[in-house]
Amino acid sequence: MIKAKSQPRILLLEDDLALAEVMSELFAEVGAITEAVPSIGGAIRAMRSFLPDLIVADLRLADGNGIDFVEYVRQREEGRAIPIIAVSAVVDKSTIATARRKGVDEYLIKPFQPAELLAVIRNHLQRQKAIAKLASREAHIQTVKMLANVIEARSKYTRGHSERVRRYALMLGEVLGWSDDEMVFLEFGALLHDIGKIQIPTEIIEKAGPLTPEEQALIETHPQVGAEMLRDVEHLKPVIPYVLYHHERCDGSGYPFHLPCEEIPPEGRLIAIADSYDAMVSNRPYREAKLKEVALAELMRGAGVLYDEEMVRAFVNLMQEGAPELHGRKGDDLR
Ligand SMILES: [Fe+2]
Repeated sequence: MIKAKSQPRILLLEDDLALAEVMSELFAEVGAITEAVPSIGGAIRAMRSFLPDLIVADLRLADGNGIDFVEYVRQREEGRAIPIIAVSAVVDKSTIATARRKGVDEYLIKPFQPAELLAVIRNHLQRQKAIAKLASREAHIQTVKMLANVIEARSKYTRGHSERVRRYALMLGEVLGWSDDEMVFLEFGALLHDIGKIQIPTEIIEKAGPLTPEEQALIETHPQVGAEMLRDVEHLKPVIPYVLYHHERCDGSGYPFHLPCEEIPPEGRLIAIADSYDAMVSNRPYREAKLKEVALAELMRGAGVLYDEEMVRAFVNLMQEGAPELHGRKGDDLR
């Protein structure tokens, strides 16, 4: 199937050629390319060569009833979600009801106002675009989740951590009023924040006793290793600050750059809270999980010292107001 990526394509089934030309010009006003066909046979042939973003169909045609074409489209897997707009001079209620039952989304009665048709077209094209965007984002998220799972599966202490951080981070981003675009990258950032741990040997991640200075130094490379891994992935570039700065702390005691609060990007400040909280309420190889109240009190003590003050307050409020507990007591480490 060939499908234009940038411009939406409309399949127009209309046997009045003069009207088809006027409508094609109209659709160009919303940036769409129109493929006009005068017959049902032609429309079926067109559907075999490309997948339209939208279909506009006259229902009374020389070679049959347009409803037959609507049925043909709806029976095909790839045709189920295409918006279909019927344009017809037939006004009786049963015809309109049948058209809707067979899968027509909108029914415009001829003669119609060009502005009316354009509004309907614009509305459906925008929805199609939004749906496609969501579907592609969901597909990306699934792939990224798989990547996070691969890294975490090496140790029972890291299993499920990124998914919980993702959910805590999204809750926090939402109460902080982050924009939709920011939330998209926040989700990826939360899932990928520890991706650099792929280079840390499992024995170190699972070590029960204190780490040697060399082992600690190795652990502290993971933000930069992760950022380096994402460097060449164009659509994940905005995720780098989450990976690179999630271990920075406001008093400069974090790593890798020992930045003070005002120099830590908000992405890093937010993940630091979600990440720390999940680590506190989970078992670590070297200690038991803390109770929720104890962890929240510890976060509050770190407000403005380790963590962004406003973000910590928002998070603690959120958790006290009954946000769901996500950790499974399986444990995690925050080294
Ligand atoms: Fe980390």
